[in-house]
Amino acid sequence: MDQAEVSSWVKAAEKAFAAATDLDSLKEARLAHLGDKSAIALASRGLGSLPADQKASVGKMIGEAKAAITAYLEKVSEKLELEQNERVLRDEVVDITLPVSRGHKGGLHPITIIKNEISDFFIEQGFSVAEGPELESGWLNFDALNIPADHPARTMQDTFFIEPVESGVVLRTHTSPVQIRTMLTSQPPIYVICPGRTFRADELDATHSPVFHQVEGLVVDKGMSMAHLKGTLDNFARHMFGPDVTTRLRPSFFPFTEPSAEVDIFFNNRWIEWGGCGMVNPKVLATCGIDTDVYSGFAFGMGLERTLMVRHGITDMHDIVEGDLRFTRQFGIGL
Ligand code: DAH
Repeated sequence: MDQAEVSSWVKAAEKAFAAATDLDSLKEARLAHLGDKSAIALASRGLGSLPADQKASVGKMIGEAKAAITAYLEKVSEKLELEQNERVLRDEVVDITLPVSRGHKGGLHPITIIKNEISDFFIEQGFSVAEGPELESGWLNFDALNIPADHPARTMQDTFFIEPVESGVVLRTHTSPVQIRTMLTSQPPIYVICPGRTFRADELDATHSPVFHQVEGLVVDKGMSMAHLKGTLDNFARHMFGPDVTTRLRPSFFPFTEPSAEVDIFFNNRWIEWGGCGMVNPKVLATCGIDTDVYSGFAFGMGLERTLMVRHGITDMHDIVEGDLRFTRQFGIGL
């Protein structure tokens, strides 16, 4: 072994390292030229068996060669690492301008959202929420509410009758029968709201739908007056339409309330009819077995579609019933 041979190992190693195109191929070259079985490793191991006078000079020669190879390896290794990092940055770059396919979360319909909002508002004040059936007996939908068979109010409402007509079953035309159901099954004090789906044989147009929703309110307690009704409606209106809304009661007629009124709101610079209300007619209380010498009550009822339309400036009922996501999404996903 002489200097020329050792130099050829260094050259071979440098050539192999320089040829490496990535860190993996560099590792292979390192094992071949610096590993246990490399010429330089074998020479190092053979040092011990050399005659004493050669040990120092050959040892120095091998040491220098090893240092040169190692230094070159580090240089190449640094360069390849840098290249690899750049490659990763380049190849794995995320193009944030690429269009993605978006999945949409399911959401509640705006009518359900407003129904929940109203329920939460009244529950906070100690009311309970009652629901009655959509197929209702004519007695509960009309008679118990003091709307007799020949009463004009009964024909005012275009009722869907269920066959056979003698069954007396109707699709409820309002949520007021839930008042009766509540009074028949519980004792005053009664504080209840009844939101739900209602039906009338109307054509679907910009302001009507044969299937719509109402919320009914009923309070029966000692000493209830129109003042309690007005206060309750004022709070309710402020909750639905904001703190600046004003309400007004206009005399009206409903067979189940006496006196009766329409409740209007002043919203967006105009008076808008919101719903009906009044003191529960003592006849209705008596039908339900409530002692009218002790108790009095008030009630109100309004449409949820109407409330939603007024509040959000919706001008076409079709938007509410058709379920077009471009419309419903504007109301968020709901509670
Ligand atoms: N049930 C009435 C309707 O559908 C609305 C109504 C009016 C409900 C007066 C009430 C009330 O509770 O007191 O037109």
